[in-house]
Amino acid sequence: ALCASFAPKAHKGNQNFQNSLQPQASFKVAVLGAAGGIGQPLALLIKMSPLVSALNLYDIANVKGVAADLSHCNTPSQVQDFTGASELGNSLKGVNVVVIPAGVPRKPGMTRDDLFNINAGIVRNLVTAVADNCPDAFIHIISNPVNSTVPIAAEILKQKGVYDPKKLFGVTTLDVVRANTFVAQKKNLKLIDVDVPVVGGHAGITILPLLSKTKPSVNFTDEEIQELTVRIQNAGTEVVEAKAGAGSATLSMAYAAARFVESSLRALDGDGDVYECSYVQSDLTELPFFASRVKLGRNGVEALIPSDLQGLTEYEQKALEALKPELKASIEKGIAFAQKQT
Ligand code: NAI
Repeated sequence: ALCASFAPKAHKGNQNFQNSLQPQASFKVAVLGAAGGIGQPLALLIKMSPLVSALNLYDIANVKGVAADLSHCNTPSQVQDFTGASELGNSLKGVNVVVIPAGVPRKPGMTRDDLFNINAGIVRNLVTAVADNCPDAFIHIISNPVNSTVPIAAEILKQKGVYDPKKLFGVTTLDVVRANTFVAQKKNLKLIDVDVPVVGGHAGITILPLLSKTKPSVNFTDEEIQELTVRIQNAGTEVVEAKAGAGSATLSMAYAAARFVESSLRALDGDGDVYECSYVQSDLTELPFFASRVKLGRNGVEALIPSDLQGLTEYEQKALEALKPELKASIEKGIAFAQKQT
């Protein structure tokens, strides 16, 4: 079944498709930006989850048709559409998990930071509505530049007096998905077994795959490490160039985001064995936000996993130090934006 493939280690959703049509839990999920390149396939994958009872789709346009279409799938969740700012609040009432892929994607030649001017304001407005309508929800930020949009979201939630750092997540799952795929290909490993932690942030050199921590344990040559690291860091650009102006990763992103939603729902449902990499408030380094593996529980981040950052190779240690100034600047840019607005 589809859900099982999101969580190959846990085997929790490992039932056949027929069984997966029986509701097993009843969480409400909202997707903001649901009519977009990521939003549509993501909504489809969430519609297939047996853990979801209500799926609220919000966008500024074109979401009615997406919802009508999806609502014909005979899976348990009820799909509702919400169009435009006047319906945003209603899309968020009683929601357990809010996923935000709203905003513009990259075109060839653009960095994620080039999206800041447009997406920063979109994330600010959407998170303001989240604070007003479902302050206890897990918030998954996909909109780029994630390195800055997550600090923006944190500031907005603080201003609203509802910030819970355990429940705010930058979605970096796609970096892990890519790392796992590329390592398995390179080393001829069974994909389902491969797990590479990816730490730091979600742009260029701030994406740091810790290849020395790959499970199962793998030996890489220095050349392989260099090649794989650079490919994982630039994988988004690979897709942007292949799409040649038509956007960035949408299908693999939807897959990765759906995996992160499913993990969050399993954690909310009381599963005690849920781990994902995510960009969160952190004290693992001197930076206030940092992506690492985290243990998820009913209340969000239950623990950061510091062991991944211990015993790094010289290559990884250097890369970690090299990424810090860029990540720090992106965090400060986000915070300054959010504070300027008040
Ligand atoms: P898209 O342009 O296809 O879709 C964006 C959707 O957001 C559109 O339907 C648009 O109407 C909607 N939207 C715009 N302003 C909105 C607002 N104020 N409220 C609600 N919805 C609004 O873009 P795509 O390809 O889906 O990408 C979305 C974002 O995800 C981009 O910022 C992109 O950079 C980011 N992304 C993040 C990744 C990650 O790993 N975290 C990977 C790939 C993309």
